[in-house]
Amino acid sequence: MSSGHPGLTNTFLEKGSPFKWSDESLKEIEIIKSKYPTERIQSAVMPLLYLAQKQNDNWLSVECIDLISQTLNMPKIRVAEVASFYSMFNLKPVGKNLIQICRTSPCWLRGSNKITKTIRSETDCDINQTSDDGLFTVVEVECLGACSNGPMIQINDEFFEDLNQTNTKQIIDNIKNNKPNKVGSQIGRSSSENAK
Ligand code: FES
Repeated sequence: MSSGHPGLTNTFLEKGSPFKWSDESLKEIEIIKSKYPTERIQSAVMPLLYLAQKQNDNWLSVECIDLISQTLNMPKIRVAEVASFYSMFNLKPVGKNLIQICRTSPCWLRGSNKITKTIRSETDCDINQTSDDGLFTVVEVECLGACSNGPMIQINDEFFEDLNQTNTKQIIDNIKNNKPNKVGSQIGRSSSENAK
C-alpha cells in the first residue's frame, strides 16, 4: 500500500491504476449532486462509489476512493468505511463475471448448496476466488431480495432465479461460449407469481 494515502495504510484497500472520472461519469455526477442539499453532499457517496466501480472494471481501488473523497470533499477514511460495509462494493479486482450466490435461509432451503457446488465445478473457481482466465469470480452473499424465486444468483447486474443444477450449468456454459442468457426466472414464471 502506498504511503501516499494517509489513514488508509495497512487496510483492506488495494492500489490500482490511475483513476479519473470519464466525461460520462462527470455528467452523471452533476445529476447525482443536484439531488442533495449542498450541506449534505457527502450523502452522495453511495452513488459515486457505484459509479466509480462501474467505470473501474467492477472494483474500487485506493485511487477510486481518493477521487471520491476529493469530489465530495470528504475524508478518505469515511469513503472507505462506506465502501467496506456493503458487499455490493468490490475492494479487490474481480473477474469479468462476478457471480454472487445467495446462501440465506430461503435460498438454502431450496437447494442453494447444490447451486454452489455446480458453480464451483463449472467455473473451476472456489468461493472468493477468480478463475485463471479472469472470466469468473465466485462469492457467497446474504439475501439479494428475490427470496420467493430461490435459489438464485446475481451475475454482474443481472438476477438468475428458480435455479437447479441443470439450468445453472447452462448459464455458465453460455457465458463461456459467449452466448446470451435468459435473465430472471429460469422456469418461465412472471415476477414472483406462484410456481406451478
Ligand atoms: S434468501 Fe436468497 S434472495 Fe433472499
